[in-house]
Amino acid sequence: METVVSGIRSTGNLHLGNYFGALKNFIEMQHHNHCFFFIADFHMLTTHPHPDDLHGNVKQVLSEYLAAGLDPEVATIYRQSDIHEIPELYLLINMNAYIGELERTASFKDKVRKNPENVNAGLLTYPVLMAADIMIHRASKVPVGKDQEQHLEMTRKYARRFNTIYNVDYFPEPVPYNFGRELVKIPGLDGSGKMGKSEGNGIFLCDAPEVIRKKVMKAVTDTGPTQPNSPISEPVQNIFTIMEVVSAPDTLSYFKEKYADCSIRYGDLKKQLAEDIIKVISPIGERIKEISANDAYLKKVVNEGAEKARVSAQKTLYDVREAMGFKPF
Ligand code: TRP
Repeated sequence: METVVSGIRSTGNLHLGNYFGALKNFIEMQHHNHCFFFIADFHMLTTHPHPDDLHGNVKQVLSEYLAAGLDPEVATIYRQSDIHEIPELYLLINMNAYIGELERTASFKDKVRKNPENVNAGLLTYPVLMAADIMIHRASKVPVGKDQEQHLEMTRKYARRFNTIYNVDYFPEPVPYNFGRELVKIPGLDGSGKMGKSEGNGIFLCDAPEVIRKKVMKAVTDTGPTQPNSPISEPVQNIFTIMEVVSAPDTLSYFKEKYADCSIRYGDLKKQLAEDIIKVISPIGERIKEISANDAYLKKVVNEGAEKARVSAQKTLYDVREAMGFKPF
């Protein structure tokens, strides 16, 4: 069995993009691989969460992981900040990570452009911490969405660099893994771009059906096709893209045909989309409520997960220190 690692940042609630871009694959993967899934609570510090909010966010994401179907009996589910070997490995990788390559990372440039007042060093070395997350278990497969591909490329670079510098064949070069399927990118409902936690364009796993209906009915469209077989505009294509993952194939082709012959009514399209989203999400929403109210269960999951993750992390760190020349007295 191959080792799989993936993490989700604990900023805000999980949305449809996280579910179809990541979580659904995790759930399928856990039975075929040696899986480590964690809540990236260190990564979330780049945006300076208030101490009063930090724990609640972690708890929410953990409950959502479990509600969606991650099974702590099968996969190792833990919190990043419980494994102290991760920040230590991060420090060690940092010594061979170069400012130039970090500054060129697309996600970093994007953050600098969006938040010029908070360009902290944690943001710059975000890909190094992510490499540490993956390398700490010597994972070879990482289920991630398209937006993380560059970070994974950097992980491969740091793994290769370590092996070269210390003349070992220790770290595998991890590849994105989604069962050979195209990586899905779920667009937002605001006409352009992807669904994001902070963009205000998302549908959350914990949204009640009425909320989902309201959000979908407000989705951006256009004035509608006037010529048969017109090209589909981005906002409408976005709705079709979400339909591709939540709706039955014939529902999608029905609305595509209606678009092609100009008889489409966006109100009907949205109503259908909302109901199909609700079908996927509301059972998860119910379980989120149950699980997040069960503190004893969450505590057990987190403690057992940390224990399992530590065994693997300690082994890696021991080997890394040895390769680097640290010796016991
Ligand atoms: N950077 C990822 C994201 O924003 C989260 C993440 C952190 C991650 N560490 C990871 C994903 C390790 C996969 C593997 O979505």
